[in-house]
Amino acid sequence: MDTRQLIAGNWKMNGSLAANEALVREVAAGLVQAGAARAHAAVCVPAPYLAQVAALCAGSALELGAQDLSCHEKGAYTGEVSAAMLREFGVRYAIVGHSERRQYHGESDALVADKARAALAAGITPIVCVGETLAEREAGRTHEVVKRQLAAVIHTNGHCISEIVVAYEPVWAIGTGKTATPAQAQEVHALLRAQLAAASTHPERVKLLYGGSMNAANAAELLAQPDIDGGLIGGASLKAQDFLQIVASAR
Ligand code: G3P
Repeated sequence: MDTRQLIAGNWKMNGSLAANEALVREVAAGLVQAGAARAHAAVCVPAPYLAQVAALCAGSALELGAQDLSCHEKGAYTGEVSAAMLREFGVRYAIVGHSERRQYHGESDALVADKARAALAAGITPIVCVGETLAEREAGRTHEVVKRQLAAVIHTNGHCISEIVVAYEPVWAIGTGKTATPAQAQEVHALLRAQLAAASTHPERVKLLYGGSMNAANAAELLAQPDIDGGLIGGASLKAQDFLQIVASAR
């Protein structure tokens, strides 16, 4: 079991062939300079760039991830990409249930759970995103929301739950610069850990990442929290030195 913290970049719908090459080469070189990395680093890239970034990551300490995948194994699902296809490109991680997909594409808790199952079946580690909106937090519904979202994944994948990664991403902190405080994040992470402990004999194997305006300045304090096992990084993952600083902040 890799006990290092996981720092995964989510490029979202950003990049170009030229920018990707410059970014990955600088991050990969920085990981070499950091020596035995205290954190495990990955980049989750838009599907059209998987082949390019897979080639750039080859032989480096940087792992490859995807940002979504189909819950179906194969067939008449126009526009979808299967877990097996991603695996052929060396994809190790796949984000599922990101709040932007739940919001813009109506992804349900059950669909997210099925996507996690499809990922696991193909040997890909799903990074399952959970998180409340500002309205839900202000209504005191944070615990209810994140427990409901995780419960669906446990229900579908109970026997494999120790093989997933969970990312707590308060929606109100994504892309806003309004990061959750370390105490706010730790409180929800501890809740998720307790929920996993009730469903798994090895809850400690599940990495709980924090996502939502994590950056070079605030990463160390967040990553120092006992139930924060890494970060899922949006904007700061597009800047090599910021991303490397977050990796270096791992405990
Ligand atoms: O998936 C990570 C992302 O939602 C966080 O974005 O820009 O707030 O780091 P950002």
